[in-house]
Amino acid sequence: MPYTEPTAPQSRKMDTKRLLMCPPRYFEVSYSINPWMEPEKPSDQGSAEAQWERLVELYRELGHTVELIDPVPGLPDMVFAANGGTVVDGKVLAARFRHMERTAEGPAYLSWFQEHGYGAVRWPEYINEGEGDLLLAGRRLLAGTGFRTDPRAHAEAQEFFGVPVTGLTLVNPRFYHLDTALAVLSDDEVMYLPEAFSAGSQAVLRELYPDAVLATSEDADVFGLNAFSDGRHVLLPSAATRLHQALRARGFEPIGIDLPELLKAGGGTKCCTLELRG
Ligand code: ARG
Repeated sequence: MPYTEPTAPQSRKMDTKRLLMCPPRYFEVSYSINPWMEPEKPSDQGSAEAQWERLVELYRELGHTVELIDPVPGLPDMVFAANGGTVVDGKVLAARFRHMERTAEGPAYLSWFQEHGYGAVRWPEYINEGEGDLLLAGRRLLAGTGFRTDPRAHAEAQEFFGVPVTGLTLVNPRFYHLDTALAVLSDDEVMYLPEAFSAGSQAVLRELYPDAVLATSEDADVFGLNAFSDGRHVLLPSAATRLHQALRARGFEPIGIDLPELLKAGGGTKCCTLELRG
């Protein structure tokens, strides 16, 4: 008997999104601020650009709107637009980076928001690396800390956006941003790697999401959790095969997309994508 796909338990509705992305025109791995980055190994700007273009195309084919910000020479990580800020209900909390190699990205993204009609923009008091660590799930912000974002930024985000913020502590330097260890799939569903979090944060995640998709380290190691979901389609690396399976079983449509050149900087699909909400 040939294998047949189990029928999806429910049919998923996609949410059309507005996304901000930055072409990797000046991409290279010239410094190391996370364990994935090895400047002595070659990286190729042309391949990075081609892989990134494919992601933009895919978003547009799916019906999402992609806005572009001009890359700035000398800021090779600016392609990781997710870190450029956090937008909730049209309000923007600008990003303030941990490492000086990336600090100039904060004002660069901030100017984009100011030039594009965002009135409620806050320059942060504490370090936060945008959607790298601040992920909106329904009306709750899941907020990472441990490596980059200052835990005091969690309270700052809660006060500014007026949505409840749940702090989560990351413990493995390979999963240094929340979006490398956890992905929001829908308003009330997530997938994550339990061992990337402190014991207390694991308990919080179990309490909030008892039915979450739990990733294996094999899938997290290929950056499978750095995924983008529109509520129906989930874009993630093709090598994250168990996650593909688990997502399909829940009625999502996983789509394999690979950015191996950007992975050399410790980035993937979600890192390249900032959601413009409201
Ligand atoms: N090289 C960048 C850094 O270490 C990668 C950022 C990836 N972005 C993300 N949202 N996880 O800061």
